[in-house]
Amino acid sequence: MCGIIGYVGSDEVVPVILDGLRRLEYRGYDSAGMAVLGADSIQILRAEGKLRNLEQLAYQRPLHGTTGVGHTRWATHGAPTQANAHPQVDASGGIAVVHNGILENYAPLRRELLEDGVELSSDTDTELIAQLLGRETGPLGERVLKVLPRLVGQYAVVAVSRREPGTVVAFRQGPPLVVGVGTAENMVASDVTAILHRTRRVIYLENGEVAVVRADGVELRDRSGALVERSPETLDWDAGRVEKGGYRHFMLKEIFEQPDAIRNTVRAYLDSSRSGVNLDGLGFSGEQLARLRRIHLVACGTSWHACLVAKFILEELTGLPTDVDYASEYRYREPLLGDDLLVIGVTQSGETADTLAAMEMAREGGALLATVCNVRGSSSWRLAGARMLTQAGPEIGVASTKAFTTQLVALIVLALALRSSRGLSDGLDRTLLTELQRLPLAVEEILHTDRALYRLGTEMLAEATDSLYLGRGILYPIALEGALKLKEISYRHAEGYPAGEMKHGPIALVTEGFPVVAVATATATREKLLGNLMEVKARGAAVLAVAEADADGVRQIAALVLPVPAVHRLLQPVVAVVPLQLLAYNVAVELGLDVDQPRNLAKSVTVE
Ligand code: AGP
Repeated sequence: MCGIIGYVGSDEVVPVILDGLRRLEYRGYDSAGMAVLGADSIQILRAEGKLRNLEQLAYQRPLHGTTGVGHTRWATHGAPTQANAHPQVDASGGIAVVHNGILENYAPLRRELLEDGVELSSDTDTELIAQLLGRETGPLGERVLKVLPRLVGQYAVVAVSRREPGTVVAFRQGPPLVVGVGTAENMVASDVTAILHRTRRVIYLENGEVAVVRADGVELRDRSGALVERSPETLDWDAGRVEKGGYRHFMLKEIFEQPDAIRNTVRAYLDSSRSGVNLDGLGFSGEQLARLRRIHLVACGTSWHACLVAKFILEELTGLPTDVDYASEYRYREPLLGDDLLVIGVTQSGETADTLAAMEMAREGGALLATVCNVRGSSSWRLAGARMLTQAGPEIGVASTKAFTTQLVALIVLALALRSSRGLSDGLDRTLLTELQRLPLAVEEILHTDRALYRLGTEMLAEATDSLYLGRGILYPIALEGALKLKEISYRHAEGYPAGEMKHGPIALVTEGFPVVAVATATATREKLLGNLMEVKARGAAVLAVAEADADGVRQIAALVLPVPAVHRLLQPVVAVVPLQLLAYNVAVELGLDVDQPRNLAKSVTVE
């Protein structure tokens, strides 16, 4: 989950690298470094900790050159020290390498090099790549082709050689790399957010490909060395969307972008009359749809929560049994694949290693493979035979918000399309399509709730070391999501639980003032939930609830109600999560924490 940037052109490369790393820092931020090519030299700067430490070093030790690479790290092999920061160099100091991923044959490679008398200066797997390249001969691009067969695992690598001052070489297997095609300059990056402000023309590297990038052109080869012809595509994202736009944090900006993101996602799949769903471009054939008998949803983290909600919606609207799995579990179990099965990989980044592995397994097993993804051209986008793009735009905050709510609406639209293909459509379809188009207004209403209302809840959760989030039915996954949001940005432990489970153990946690957050909008089981809340309140719990403003029964129990507008029961997860996103955000800000770059996390988990 590291950030990689490479540049070759006519500008001073240090500012270009630092700016690119700043835009990538959300991908990993425990150390950073850069390599700048001189006339016949490579100059290296590396610093522990946040990017600002590298910026400080670059100010103290100005480097000059127009070719270079930069890296911001999320440590896998070796502690986040200066010695383990990237770039790593070979024994001669003539080749520098930055890397995102994990070499699975790290141990035998390390042993082989040590036994050959190579002196290693770090604990990283990355240094082994540099050493292997240094032991080959010829131009860097040819050295890469010779070394590729030695590498086992996941890697996105960018390398430079002091013998080739105007050249950057990039290659990948797993984690993404994209080439930015500029005017008399070219770039390489982990993702487009680092280069959008300079060019929107990109070439996505496929697995096993090697790109030799110079200011005047890009040469692509496959792992056999054969030339690959691929024209750049032009992205429809603009650079402004990866800026904070006046908000204090990306996360807050992205929470407030949800009405537009939801509106754009729904509209992308409505037919011209806006009374039906048009998934012609999705990539399913009529014969494939007719064969479907079951669905598997695979994802990680917040995206997995979206799948849990979608299970209720897909089963009710299509009648197809729907299983939901953590991708990291699915890829190692026997999922009974077959051509009557639709597997959907749900992923914001499209680069989550476990989700991609689960998708590859599904495709090899003969299942229909689709993805719901937020990044066009990402690995999951290119892996799936059918795809839905959530129109959330770049999501920079590590804690996922707008990607989650757009995943929910995309999955609802997909369920309606599958329902229609199975001849099940009725009045409910029209109701849902109408309500989906009103959803942005409901979210806007929540976003304009007086923030003072969150004060009590913020203080309670900021002071508590532990809390429970409860929900039932289609709202139980929202309890899980609310708890995850709090955990990942405030570091306060929280656990999501189905409310009906409280008497089977968790109620033992409840003491005087223990915070219990209830997702209590008007579903068929709300009365049951209120009973559970009475039980915890009787034992001293401080109850906060998300519910409709007129939910009298809830108001009598909860010390605080965060109001949401009344929406159709199948759409309640979309509105109910928004107050929980804001609550978690407020707690993290209250605690003075780094909301956009929480400790130990990275935006895209591109390694297992
Ligand atoms: C959510 O807030 C987290 N950032 C994390 O759980 C994330 O949802 C998970 O890593 C999956 O990422 P993806 O959607 O890009 O596959």
